[in-house]
Amino acid sequence: MTTTRHLLTGTELSRDDLLAVLRRAHELKAAGVGPGATAPSHPASLAGLSVGLIFQKPSTRTRISMEVGVHELGAHPLLLRPDEMQLSRGESVKDTARILSRHVHAVGIRTNKDSLLEELAAEGTIPVVNLLTDGHHPCQVVADLLTLQEAFPERLSDDGGLDDLHLAYVGDGNNVARSIALVGAIAGLRVTVVAPDGYQLDPAETTATLSDDPRTGVAGADCLYADVWVSMGDTDSDERRAALRAYGLDDALLDAAAPGAIALHCLPAHPGEEISAEVLYGDRQRIWDQAENRRHAQKALLEWVLRAGPFSDAA
Ligand code: CP
Ligand code: NVA
Repeated sequence: MTTTRHLLTGTELSRDDLLAVLRRAHELKAAGVGPGATAPSHPASLAGLSVGLIFQKPSTRTRISMEVGVHELGAHPLLLRPDEMQLSRGESVKDTARILSRHVHAVGIRTNKDSLLEELAAEGTIPVVNLLTDGHHPCQVVADLLTLQEAFPERLSDDGGLDDLHLAYVGDGNNVARSIALVGAIAGLRVTVVAPDGYQLDPAETTATLSDDPRTGVAGADCLYADVWVSMGDTDSDERRAALRAYGLDDALLDAAAPGAIALHCLPAHPGEEISAEVLYGDRQRIWDQAENRRHAQKALLEWVLRAGPFSDAA
């Protein structure tokens, strides 16, 4: 009997798994499905399957890229709004997991507490994919790694690893920062998180280098990464904005990084806060490619959890 594969934090992926997912994501992207393509040229590896998608927090990129990605792989995406589910009227996560497991083949969920995601995985019998929790955003980071591979093809290890690259995340030590540190490390990426006191990752939970000084923290980095200062669920306080004011990503900070350094941002952006408009819309960023890569990366991740396409047990 095979065990169910989940993607809760991303640490379920070994280095070999993660690099294979990234290779597959490049293949799927090159197959030319999506706007501008005349016809899909990759097989519908999830034909006949259904994937539930539950969003308990707002989303633009994740929702669009998952719904379209599931469709492109030949499966049916089932958008489940929490206010239309009995979950919102007190039905337990346990019973919801049991029902989902009788009808769909995998479920992606964006929610607050990581414990809810863990309960869904423990009580059901189908793969659960984390589409963002308070603690983690693994799908985002797989797309980020894909974008780094595209930006620095000559710097990759023989197996596609990012061992020679250094990313500095600048800003709030949040779910995205935590996932970059965790999942980036699996692919060999060196990660520094630059954040002020009180907004930094817990040193006990991360292998990333931690700094509170933007200038020295980004020195030698090939990529500077920004995310919002106020995440969904955070209190939007003057104190928070004041603490993070010196941690914005602009051209001057890129100048302090390695020559040729690129800017990434998971979006949504607040130009003039965590990133300048010049960087967001300029030629030193790969942010809009990064946003497209969400779809390609998640398609490969769905094939991985569902043991479909090149990840088939029979392959
Ligand atoms: N980056 C990201 O997850 O965007 P959404 O919140 O729009 O899904
Ligand atoms: N840290 C942000 C990421 C949004 C994609 C949040 O959780 O709101």
